[in-house]
Amino acid sequence: MNYVIQYGGSKYMNKKDKIVIVGDGEFAEIAYEYFTYDSSYTVAAFAVEKQFITKDSLFGLPVIAFEEIEQLYSPKEYKVFTAITFTKFNRVRTRLYNEARNKGYGFVSYISSRAFVWRNVKIGENSFIFEDNTIQYNSEIGNNVVLWSGNHIGHRSKIKDNCFISSHVVVSGYCEVGENSFLGVNSTFVNNISIGKNSFVAAGALITKNYGDNLFLKGSPAKPESKSSLDLFNINE
Ligand SMILES: CC(C)(COP(=O)(O)OP(=O)(O)OC[C@H]1O[C@@H](n2cnc3c(N)ncnc32)[C@H](O)[C@@H]1OP(=O)(O)O)[C@@H](O)C(=O)NCCC(=O)NCCS
Repeated sequence: MNYVIQYGGSKYMNKKDKIVIVGDGEFAEIAYEYFTYDSSYTVAAFAVEKQFITKDSLFGLPVIAFEEIEQLYSPKEYKVFTAITFTKFNRVRTRLYNEARNKGYGFVSYISSRAFVWRNVKIGENSFIFEDNTIQYNSEIGNNVVLWSGNHIGHRSKIKDNCFISSHVVVSGYCEVGENSFLGVNSTFVNNISIGKNSFVAAGALITKNYGDNLFLKGSPAKPESKSSLDLFNINE
């Protein structure tokens, strides 16, 4: 069966801006699709750390060593997007984002033509906003943040850098989510709540109070587990 789907991306006739996607896994494939069919960017190549290279090409484009990226795709001509999910509690994506910046790259963000983003929302670089996200009045999304599909970010709420928000999460108004956090599917925040950096919020958790850093929050209403969020990922920082 042939499907014909009209994407918002059809309005992007003049795709002059070129990018390299860091990664070649499932998220990289999705990012390729979304940038190609729903953005003004043209994907030129994929870059993967040498020890993880398993193929020469993907979608007919070269897969090159991340270590050599600047020799083949000059930071003067190309920008980067790091398409890595929450591996090692967002550390892998964040490390490669910082390394690409140190090599002199600028970054792009993707915002789905099917997301609702109010006009004064701020969204940082290297962030990816899937379809069906609602991002309300005066809210802020940091750098290197992934909002998978279907979340609600209420008015004046702030999602700090390097967070991964899975799907169908409700962050009510005036909330703040600290750096590097992971919010599981269907988790819910009542209004005026702050959680600290490195929060791991389990699927379906209901957050009703403020919490500090490094907590693994689970249940409805949520309680901190005895194990820290860093222990969950065997991270020593
Ligand atoms: C919380 C989570 C990390 C598992 O944590 P865990 O403490 O290692 O859980 P376990 O699998 O060992 O289960 C321990 C108990 O917690 C329960 N449990 C597991 N996940 C739970 C959750 N999200 N909320 C409430 N209880 C949960 C289990 O049923 C089990 O209960 P039991 O002891 O009565 O049998 C995982 O279930 C989770 O929520 N991951 C996020 C998934 C997600 O959102 N993915 C999106 C990817 S894009």
